[in-house]
Amino acid sequence: MSRLIVVSNRVADLDKPGGASSGGLAMAMGNALKESGGIWLGWSGRTAEEDGEPVFSEVGDITLARVDLSRQNVEEYYNGYANRTLWPLFHHRIDLTAYEQSFRDAYLDVNRTFARAIRSLVEPDDVIWVQDYHLIPLGRELRALGVKNRIGFFLHIPWPARELFVTLPQHEDLVWSLFGYDLVGFQSNKDLGAFTDYVETELGVDPSPDGLIDHFGRKLHARAYPISINPGEMVELGKSEAAARSEAMLRDRAGEEKIMLGVDRIDYSKGLPQKFAGYERFLERFPERHGSVRLLQIGQPSRGLVEEYRNLGDELAAEAGRINGQYGTLDWSPLSYHTQSYGRDALAGIYRAADACIVTSLRDGMNLVAKEFVAAQSPDDPGVLILSRFTGAAEQLGDALLINPYDKEQCAEVFAEALDMGRDERIARWQALNDSIARNSLTDWQERFTQDLRGTTHSGAKAS
Ligand code: UDP
Ligand code: G6P
Repeated sequence: MSRLIVVSNRVADLDKPGGASSGGLAMAMGNALKESGGIWLGWSGRTAEEDGEPVFSEVGDITLARVDLSRQNVEEYYNGYANRTLWPLFHHRIDLTAYEQSFRDAYLDVNRTFARAIRSLVEPDDVIWVQDYHLIPLGRELRALGVKNRIGFFLHIPWPARELFVTLPQHEDLVWSLFGYDLVGFQSNKDLGAFTDYVETELGVDPSPDGLIDHFGRKLHARAYPISINPGEMVELGKSEAAARSEAMLRDRAGEEKIMLGVDRIDYSKGLPQKFAGYERFLERFPERHGSVRLLQIGQPSRGLVEEYRNLGDELAAEAGRINGQYGTLDWSPLSYHTQSYGRDALAGIYRAADACIVTSLRDGMNLVAKEFVAAQSPDDPGVLILSRFTGAAEQLGDALLINPYDKEQCAEVFAEALDMGRDERIARWQALNDSIARNSLTDWQERFTQDLRGTTHSGAKAS
């Protein structure tokens, strides 16, 4: 039987009760695998003296296979090449991008560790699906070990503009490694376009209309597959006890006060200083609203060993304190900022209690929070989604109030517009947003990708 083998750096703790997972990838793959079953291989999150062998555990039809990594590799591969080179570069922050040869060496080393682990468990009919920027070279490493199975790759973050991507030393080698895959998926047509631009301009190859690129002696299909959520799952989570508790708690405390919500990892790509600045402008411009509104910002701690993330955390805490100090009164605080992580059931209740959700990403592959917020709303009295135009989600959620987070005057006006929006308009917009999410659910996304992967012109055998 053909099994699905998913590989990603982070594996959700499906085998631990209440196990938290960080970010959209783990959430999406956990859900996708629950439907299909299969193997999910990745880093254990632990360090050891040396890179280890996979340790297995079973959850229903899913086998989790986790690999320990050496301390040095975690530092140079995860904190280094993944999160200090590729993440900032792909999010257009070359001012924060580190180009260190030792980071790249560790990146290739860990990809080889993962390749060996997969080689030891793969069977001839298995289909391998590699996730995200941590593992771009994995396909090529698998081919080098003689793996001939179909292998696909999906990039959860944006692909950068060519002018920025070419600042990466050995950028052509990274692109060459993508040709180890049979199918490469991007979040949006914009990302696919940026990749195609590189291929045409730097490699001098024209992709065929269905995305076939024939180069380096291999055939690669490149297409866009916007990831999503299963809206029914959010509706179910909204009925849980934890959701009921968090929703009631927030509503009781808020009384007549309206809640504008933000849910983000503490990451410079999420535009959190811009969100606070837009909110401050809103408070300045609309003093009559003081006392009747609150921004509730959940900041999920992330990548705390990387300096830029720690600096951002400090900056946000200081800004939140300053804004509350300046505008707060004895009986009102305009901004609640929590650096905590919530379970998805409690989060469903938090989404339901909010009157609006604000997403201000400066660059974001998709942004699943936007889709989850919509799916969690009650259809007869839904909240309003305010969404940065710089997210992949904005391509599908054009009925949200779209903003440019750099423009604080616009943000201030749109925040006011959201709070004043009448019920009929809220329902009409929500309906259109929810329909759009239902038309391309997470299940549809997974089926489209894996069906296309199984159907690709297969050139595994030609690998060097
Ligand atoms: N999330 C969570 N608990 C939190 C905050 C976020 O489970 O306290 C989840 C959220 O439900 C969503 C994911 O983390 O599924 C964030 O995904 P998104 O695509 O919005 O951003 P990413 O963090 O992947 O950049
Ligand atoms: C984004 C990335 C994922 C990553 C997640 C959380 O969603 O695309 O690959 O897992 O952020 O980041 P972390 O570094 O905690 O895994």
